[in-house]
Amino acid sequence: MFETLSPAPPDPILGLGESFLADNRPGKINLSIGVFKDEQGQTPVLNCVKLAEQQLLESERTKGYLGIDGLADFNRLATELMLGGIVPPQQVAVCQTPGGTGALRVAADFLAKSLAPSRVWCSAPTWPNHGPIFESAGHEVKSYRYLSADRRTLDLEGMFDDLQQACPGDVVCLHACCHNPSGIDPTAQQWAAIAEQTASRKLMPLIDFAYQGFGDGLVEDQVGIRAMAQKHAEFLLCGSFSKNFGLYSERVGTLMVAVPQVDSANSVASRIKLAVRSNYSNPPRHGAAVVATVLSDPELRRQWEDELTGMRQRIHRMRSEFVAETKRIGCATDFSFLMDQRGMFSFSGLTPLQVDWLRTEKAIYIVGSGRINVAGITPQNLETLAAAVSEALSV
Ligand SMILES: Cc1ncc(COP(=O)(O)O)c(C=O)c1O
Repeated sequence: MFETLSPAPPDPILGLGESFLADNRPGKINLSIGVFKDEQGQTPVLNCVKLAEQQLLESERTKGYLGIDGLADFNRLATELMLGGIVPPQQVAVCQTPGGTGALRVAADFLAKSLAPSRVWCSAPTWPNHGPIFESAGHEVKSYRYLSADRRTLDLEGMFDDLQQACPGDVVCLHACCHNPSGIDPTAQQWAAIAEQTASRKLMPLIDFAYQGFGDGLVEDQVGIRAMAQKHAEFLLCGSFSKNFGLYSERVGTLMVAVPQVDSANSVASRIKLAVRSNYSNPPRHGAAVVATVLSDPELRRQWEDELTGMRQRIHRMRSEFVAETKRIGCATDFSFLMDQRGMFSFSGLTPLQVDWLRTEKAIYIVGSGRINVAGITPQNLETLAAAVSEALSV
């Protein structure tokens, strides 16, 4: 039967990573895949993670299964980190998941199985995996405008216009901070207006929180969640520890569902477990145990916050150094707009043709949409990159 199958297209982003690895040219630069890189271009293991792992090596007594919803300490600490002071913990149904992707898929399955498949509204553009995840669970995916024509600012009016077509009960997927792929986030006032709109239309917010601490800070990055929680007694939150703990391959994430009553939290939690059981049964322990160890130890937590601040500041520094370098060499485009964006990603404004040229001529890998991972810029590749981008603009 398999003879009839033609190959599926490669993943647009992970596929580029494979081509990058196979590229033998010296000085190649990868600004495609969304992982943090340090000044040396490496994706490091955080020191606090190494220390927690040493503790776990000594203290771990079993590799027995976790419960369907994961490690209790992790769930409590993750809830405190992401929803502390916003929703009382007893009003949150929480589940440890394999990464933020796992959280999104469990959320999608939970909604489809326990309520009914509905329409999920995603920003245009959004993280390319959002659509397939919701569709796999049986939802219809629609998009709302998010960016103005020059892709440098938020198009709030366009967003509200499009959401006028949403029906009560439809799900609206929002990026809590560091919007992927644009780096453009709503201001506090815009978040308040969005919450007003979604609540008045009785939409269900599903907030994707994959970059807590990468924007302006752990608490500052909760601004959108705070605004949504003021207008919505019920919402879903999908969190990831891939980026802010550098635990990409350990697959640590969380699904939280905020509800107005403790009883509903219990029912929702049981429904989430049902969705997990028939999927991966129960989550992996190690990464969640690392996160729980760091968050519960004041010294390790302090160290984590320092390391996270270091990552955030490095990204910010690379933004401003890229802007300064392109200015210095007289680049045709003023890239100052990058300074208004948050997180690892930005739309550079490069066209698919220019992106193609940079890859074939200069071994610089950028996603076709022109999205760049700012964290891939280092002091060593900055000048080469700025010169190549400047040249690409005149191709
Ligand atoms: C917006 C967004 N959501 C979710 C995820 C998934 O994260 P994870 O690697 O934890 O599955 C990512 C990862 O790139 C992302 O950018």
